[in-house]
Amino acid sequence: MALLPIVKIGDADDAVLRTPAARVRDFGPDLHRLLDDMVETLRDAPGVGLAAPQIGLALRVAVIEYPEDDEEEGSPMRLYEIINPEIIKARGSEEGQEGCLSMPGLAADVQRATHVVVRAQDRHGREVRIKAYDWLARIFQHEIDHLLGVLMTDRADEVYRTVRTEEGTYEAVPIENTLRRPLPLAST
Ligand code: CO
Repeated sequence: MALLPIVKIGDADDAVLRTPAARVRDFGPDLHRLLDDMVETLRDAPGVGLAAPQIGLALRVAVIEYPEDDEEEGSPMRLYEIINPEIIKARGSEEGQEGCLSMPGLAADVQRATHVVVRAQDRHGREVRIKAYDWLARIFQHEIDHLLGVLMTDRADEVYRTVRTEEGTYEAVPIENTLRRPLPLAST
């Protein structure tokens, strides 16, 4: 296993973050190694989701790790490896504040569906369906956006710079959203 460098906006190679990712067709050992490395990189970051474009690879692959029950303290973590994912149902709408490993120091208020059903393939190419609501639904939508070359700032109502206070907490200071790009038709 290996830690992979995370591509950040402003890096020389950040165009991959704006590139629609290609479908995965080969579910062999290369994909399994990629998934293992992405999970290790996600845990090291640490973060709750990582999409392949964020490690410089325009492939429809993402990993998500989130508590099974986010309202219960000490709830076990559940890992999702999603290949060629698609949102097949979405309903409800709620605003929430997101961050992104490719946009360190930034936060964005984004409207997302509250409930989604995701159809994807697992690492062996088998079809899986995942129902998610609330924060987990938000994470799936954020990661699947990455596979379309869409970043949280493209959908943001408000963008903030996160500043560490003297007390060691974080404060979100509103800034102008200079990173917004038009959404591709497929994602609207
Ligand atoms: Co992100």
